[in-house]
Amino acid sequence: MTEPVPTVDMEKLVSLCQRRGFIFQSSDIYGGLNSCWDYGPLGVELKRNIKEAWWRANVQERDDMVGLDTSILMHPNVWEASGHLTGFSDPLVECKQCHLRWRADQLEGDRCPSCGGELTEPRQFNMMFKTFMGPVEEDAAVVYLRPETAQGIFVNFDNVVNTTRKRLPFGIAQIGKAFRNEITTGNFIFRSREFEQMEIEFFVKPGMDKEWFEYWVQERLNWYSRLGIRRENLQLRPHGEDELAHYASMCSDIEYLFPMGWSELEGIANRGDFDLRQHVEHSGKNLEYYDDVTNEHYLPYVIEPSAGVDRSALAFLCDAYTEEPDKDEIRVLLKLHPDLAPVKVAVLPLSRKENLTAFARAIYADLRQHLITSYDDTQSIGRRYRRQDEVGTPYCVTVDFASLEDNRVTIRERDTMNQIRVPIGALRDTLQAKLAGEDLFVLPEGGEVWKEG
Ligand code: GAP
Repeated sequence: MTEPVPTVDMEKLVSLCQRRGFIFQSSDIYGGLNSCWDYGPLGVELKRNIKEAWWRANVQERDDMVGLDTSILMHPNVWEASGHLTGFSDPLVECKQCHLRWRADQLEGDRCPSCGGELTEPRQFNMMFKTFMGPVEEDAAVVYLRPETAQGIFVNFDNVVNTTRKRLPFGIAQIGKAFRNEITTGNFIFRSREFEQMEIEFFVKPGMDKEWFEYWVQERLNWYSRLGIRRENLQLRPHGEDELAHYASMCSDIEYLFPMGWSELEGIANRGDFDLRQHVEHSGKNLEYYDDVTNEHYLPYVIEPSAGVDRSALAFLCDAYTEEPDKDEIRVLLKLHPDLAPVKVAVLPLSRKENLTAFARAIYADLRQHLITSYDDTQSIGRRYRRQDEVGTPYCVTVDFASLEDNRVTIRERDTMNQIRVPIGALRDTLQAKLAGEDLFVLPEGGEVWKEG
């Protein structure tokens, strides 16, 4: 078997993302802020779609999960209890010659990778961002930007049990920003200091944790596959004893074959009762669950699938990136799953003649009520198709002069470039059926198929 190779190199992808408005460097006009990124008009749609697909699969479609949206700033004791104040640090070394800083655990030799200079002894560097609450910058006012969304879930465990009357096993899901003052960042949006997480804390009866751990590993792998990531570009990597986070007894990473090689996309950890127990100790509140089946009180164990929105976006973009020979050119397309594609449909009138424009605009106005739709009447139709291919738009609707006579328009499909002609009255239903994955060649009455060329 041959080893899979990354589908795209990073430079190409970054360039496409900037050129087409997926992702920009933050504060660009001031020279940029290192490791911070802004999602542009297409990027914001992609990101929303990823979060929506995750929420749908994990909250909406399940009856054993509820959602939560907790604040980024939390009581400082939370971070003492969770172990982040003492344990959430990386070993930092600095080059005595060029003063670049590195993570000691990521270096291969003991000299500076940039200039070969001598390095200082490692010191533990806490990765939480610190700020002050209120107008006085004093120790008593110190608060932290959360480094994970998970703790907001743990401290609300009792609130959720009491208000929803959920019984074990059940989970709490949250999507939100997290902040880490990483020593080294890079690889585009892979590792940044401000990012978004999609986390589940799934509470189970102690003893059931191993089974649920395996369940969630498979479930999460399947989620990426269902949304189009090729299985050969995903792998599982169980953590060794020596690399487990301070709270975990088991952990498996789902890795993706990013342009820089296999790297973590999501971590699934068995956190046992570590967090709830710590919060009981530090808050003095009883967080035990009453099991009315066995008549016992206990602290549940927790399985935590923790994914990054930005890393998912990067993985989906990499996996979708395709170059195909097309006549004398290379056709670049993003084969994004329709659920993730930023724009679902583009309406393209063949010319800017007034009667055609009015006709096409009316179609655009109708489709826009139901689907993210764009409108483009610049340049040749071939170039417009290529522009839509490059940003992953699954369908283009072409309006030509015959449309004015026969009330039919052409739907052109991104991946196959097949075209079908359908009556206007059936356009929206046909598009929605296709976007939902129904057979491409089922035609409405009065429809017709042909090949582009
Ligand atoms: N609550 C557990 C937790 O936070 P983690 O492995 O530290 O576990 C989970 O983070 C996920 O968050 C990672 O798999 C990754 O997708 C994302 N993530 C973590 N640090 C990140 C960073 N600096 N930049 C972008 N994404 C990050």
